[in-house]
Amino acid sequence: MEEVNNSLNQFLCDLNVFFTKLQNYHWNIQGESFFRIHEKMEEYYDCVAKEIDEIAEHILINGAQPLGTLKDYLENTKIKEAENKKVDRNTIYQAVLADYGTLYQDINKIKETADSAGDYATSALMDEYVLNYGKKLWMLNQSK
Ligand SMILES: [Fe+2]
Repeated sequence: MEEVNNSLNQFLCDLNVFFTKLQNYHWNIQGESFFRIHEKMEEYYDCVAKEIDEIAEHILINGAQPLGTLKDYLENTKIKEAENKKVDRNTIYQAVLADYGTLYQDINKIKETADSAGDYATSALMDEYVLNYGKKLWMLNQSK
């Protein structure tokens, strides 16, 4: 069970840093795709915000402590922060595609770990994430 909660906390760290990165892109997108990307980033980070709460509360349901400080998130994340400057559509696209891939790996790791530990609640929760993230990755790949 400890391994399951560690993998959930890893995901929580990555989601928190990804949230700030998406909001940074929402603010800093510049160029002809501004309106489209500005809106898409908001849709993405609204979704990530809900997931952050769901994952943290799931860790609590499992009887463990979710990481809860920005220091923890930055020290443990695999997501690279965005720079605070104007950014073009292609840079955002490449970064977001790579980051959704990283998060998809986190999700699969949680699912595998939960299955081996007999933690079926976590495993069932991850089914939803596997589907959602798989669809997001497919959609992103279509616009390559
Ligand atoms: Fe806004």
